[in-house]
Amino acid sequence: MSVSRGEQKLSWARVHMPVLKELGDRIRTQGSLRGVRISMALHTEAKTGVLALTLARAGAHVRLASCNPLSTDDDIPVALASADVEGSLQVRARKDQSRDEYYEALNWSLDQGPGIVIDDGGDIVRLLHTQREDVVEGVNGGCEETTTGIVRLRAMHKQGVLKFPMIDINDCMMKHLFDNRYGTGQSTLDGIMASTNLCLASMRCVVAGYGWCGKGIAMRLKGMGARVTVAEVDPVKAVEALMDGFEVSPMEKAASGSDLIITATGCKDVVHKGVIDRLKNGCVLANAGHFDNEIQVTYLEDHPSYNARPGVKGYELKEREVFLLSQGRLVNLAAGQGHPVEIMDLSFALQASGAQYIALNSLEPGVHPLPPEIDRDVALLKLGSMGSRIDTLTPEQVRYLNSWDEGT
Ligand code: ADE
Repeated sequence: MSVSRGEQKLSWARVHMPVLKELGDRIRTQGSLRGVRISMALHTEAKTGVLALTLARAGAHVRLASCNPLSTDDDIPVALASADVEGSLQVRARKDQSRDEYYEALNWSLDQGPGIVIDDGGDIVRLLHTQREDVVEGVNGGCEETTTGIVRLRAMHKQGVLKFPMIDINDCMMKHLFDNRYGTGQSTLDGIMASTNLCLASMRCVVAGYGWCGKGIAMRLKGMGARVTVAEVDPVKAVEALMDGFEVSPMEKAASGSDLIITATGCKDVVHKGVIDRLKNGCVLANAGHFDNEIQVTYLEDHPSYNARPGVKGYELKEREVFLLSQGRLVNLAAGQGHPVEIMDLSFALQASGAQYIALNSLEPGVHPLPPEIDRDVALLKLGSMGSRIDTLTPEQVRYLNSWDEGT
């Protein structure tokens, strides 16, 4: 029997996602998601497919749409359509969706009237609150995966408009310490290398933003022999970057001598007209942030352009050419394969746990952390899957750590 490319990708991912498997088996046995309608907006690639299948096998009715028009791996919706889950998983996603198609798919995922939503970037929650009053009241809660989405949710809650509880998956230790740092670090370079085939060693690179994602990117660039400058707006993070051994400089200054600029800030207009006008000939621009507004693509588009390579557009500025990867959309998924499988195993184990937590608890509208025991549980499962063990405190050590009256 021939196995499709999508099925191969799914089974490769599944084998490397033992933590999600264990948690999925537990959720299935406990039955907490049986019959629950879950609408998901996630990057529709192999690891996400494994999450969707896990939830469907646990008895949920899952509708999956993408959270980005460029990030779908077209092999995956095809493979998921023929998965043996008795019709409880439906997918609507394709690579290179128009804006209308993107929102049509998100709306379709909501048409089932979800009890739980799983979001990456906040678009599904925004849609629910702005256009889908018909289904918003039925939502018991949801989970948000990424920094950008959490920023939006907190703004909604502050304004008093968030109508249901959302679990903050991003701030789980087992998420941002690994996904944002090692995941983004590796997958961003993966996307840049796949689309340019250029040598990172000796390249002068600027990383904009020194949050967990920027840290991971800068660390991996350094490991590949690149010369890295960090651009920051937060003085504490800037000091951290200096202490980690990087140059720190304002963007406009750093940009003028750089070969590659990568944005990972979560903010708009980071590479703006003033920066673009200073770029040197041949500079490559890539974005690793969730939205495509970190580089001012509209300003680049005012110039003549041509397709330099698949996914690489050249812009003819005054006496110089600069190159933009993946239309300024997140390069690790648009041009690469997304985060490594073992990293998404952790993030999606937390997403599945978050969905279960919503199903089992009645929470107020707002942004809620996952209990630290769940983070710990995921860490222990991960350690076990890596064949590692750790020490346990003795009762005397526990007593000591809880006391205050013992001197030297
Ligand atoms: N694969 C699926 N979701 C992803 C995400 N948020 N980041 C990177 N790779 C992913």
